[in-house]
Formats: sequence, C-alpha cells, structure tokens
Amino acid sequence: MKKKRKMKKKYKITFFLVIVLICSIPLFFFLSKENKQKENPTETKDTPVINESAIEKKLKSLNYTKEEISFVLKEVKEENQDILLKEEKEVVLPIIKETYYIDDYLEKYITYYKENSDLTKKEIITRVNTHIDEPFYTNTIETDTTLGKFVLLNKYYHANETYQGKDLIKVDSQYNLYGSEFYLSKECYHAFLKMYEDALEAGYGFKINSAYRSYESQVKIYQGWVNKDGQTLADTYSARAGFSEHQTGYAFDVRDFPFTNDDYSKTKSFTWVSENAYKYGFIIRFPKDKEYITGYQYEPWHYRYCGEECAKYIHDTGITFEEYYEYFIKYKNPRGLI
Ligand code: DAL
Ligand code: ZN
Repeated sequence: MKKKRKMKKKYKITFFLVIVLICSIPLFFFLSKENKQKENPTETKDTPVINESAIEKKLKSLNYTKEEISFVLKEVKEENQDILLKEEKEVVLPIIKETYYIDDYLEKYITYYKENSDLTKKEIITRVNTHIDEPFYTNTIETDTTLGKFVLLNKYYHANETYQGKDLIKVDSQYNLYGSEFYLSKECYHAFLKMYEDALEAGYGFKINSAYRSYESQVKIYQGWVNKDGQTLADTYSARAGFSEHQTGYAFDVRDFPFTNDDYSKTKSFTWVSENAYKYGFIIRFPKDKEYITGYQYEPWHYRYCGEECAKYIHDTGITFEEYYEYFIKYKNPRGLI
C-alpha cells in the first residue's frame, strides 16, 4: 500500500515536471529572440532582414546571380540600393565592378553613361570621379587646404586669395635658373634637393624657373597670357587665380641646365627627371594625353610633390592626380587598393 502511494507520488511529480517543461517552451523561444536582438540591435521588426530579402528577390528577378547580389549589396549603401532596381544589370553591374567606383556617384555614373553610351565604363568612372562630366570652371568647389601635399587645385577645386602653401621656405639661389626669389613648401623643397643632387651625380642638370605663386601673382600671370593669346587659348596652359597649384607651394617648373633652349621634353635632363621623379615623391602633373582630365596642355617641366607612395602609384598606374585625389584622398580608398 505504502509502495503504491509512493509510486503515485512519483507519477505526480513526473507529470508536474512535464507540464512545467511544456509551458516553458514558448518562454525559451521568447528569451532567445530577445538575446538575439541584443546581439544585433539593428534587426528590429520593421527592417533590413525583411528589406534585404525583398531586394534580393527583386535583384534575382533582374537576373543577378547569388554572388552578384552579395557583391552589389556590399558595395552599394542602403540609400542607393533602389537605383539598382531601376536599372538593367548590364548597365549597373559593370560600373560597380570598376576599380575606382565611388558609391556616392552611382546615380551620376548612370546618368552620364546614358548620355555617353559610346564611352567605356572605365571612362565613365574616370570622368565622373574627376568632375569632367561638368564643364571646366562651373560649379567649382572650395578645396580642403588642410591636406598639405594632397591639396588639389584645378578647374573644379579652388582656393581663396588668403591661402598659401604650408611651411614655405626660400629656395637657395643656386637652384634658380635666374635671379627671382622662389619659395617652396619645406617638405617639397627637401625632396627637390635630394632629386637635384642625385641627378647631378648621374650627370643631369636642371634648375627651377617657377615655384610658389601667390593668388595675386597668379592674377597678373594669367592676365598677361590672356592679353597675349586671348582667354580661350590662355585657359589651356595657364590657371586662373585661385585654381593654380603653384599656390600650394608643392609645385615647381624646371628647365635643363646648362640651358639649351630646346623643347624641354627633348632634353636629357627631362629623360632623367621624368624617369626618376616619382622616387622622390614627384609627379608630372599635366601629362600627355590627359589634357581632357587636367584641363591643361602637356607640361613636361611642371612637377608636383605628393609624397613617395602617391607618386609611385601614379607613376605605376598612369592615373592623374585628379583621379588619385578623388579616390584615395577625398573618399579615403574605399576598397583598400593600397
Ligand atoms: N601652368 C599651370 C597650369 C598653372 O598656371 O598653374
Ligand atoms: Zn607650373
């Protein structure tokens, strides 16, 4: 009898435990969901997960593969993702795949491509990134003058009359082609001295014939050329005041020394400087065949200091400083290319 009661009690306890267990299942699910949300606070009821799968479905219907979907959703920020849905995959995907793609410009790339469908996607990226989808000297932007050796002045980025290069120091007169006083930013000057010594040792000579130019001096220089050649022609080789990178103190012009009066690009001095300048942090700022980007005729004599890493990259890839600036400096190298 005692044994029977004991058994009954055992059954009761087991039954009770089973009931407690069954009742705690919903509680378990509720708590685990709460925890998940704490780990990932962005996953709320009305959000990305749901949106993302909706966009994934739509991209699938536009013939994107699974890999392509995860690629574009990684590269294109949420507020731009509806652009993906409005365009054909054949137009938009190759644009996003381009090396120097900048997500902020997605809409601009597409608009420019539609107006210029004869251009390659690479050309579209280059032109939009460097703002040449807009005419020179329109919608100009005030440049960031705190960037030192990376300050960009061109036909889109300008500085005001008070801006002058950082840490300007006087160039020793032995490096000048003639009597004028020249100034350069300290960092640029020291790199110049190294390059000068090494060139001399290798048997090649050159001297500076223009360096830092203030806003006021550029006003006079530009006006002089306009008076001589008219504004349209002058604009192809001389910068308007506030747009000349001579104002940065990181640019200078050279001539062969002893001076031959030859076209500088045909001199031995040029051969050495153009092949070696990048090792000292200098670039040919207005290269041949890049007039449509820089806005200026080829200037084999004009060198710009942007540091060794920048100069080597530009030398090795053949891109312009405009392209380098936009991708690596302004947009801070979004794909980690260097
Ligand atoms: N010659 C270059 C473009 C300048 O005037 O700054
Ligand atoms: Zn120059």
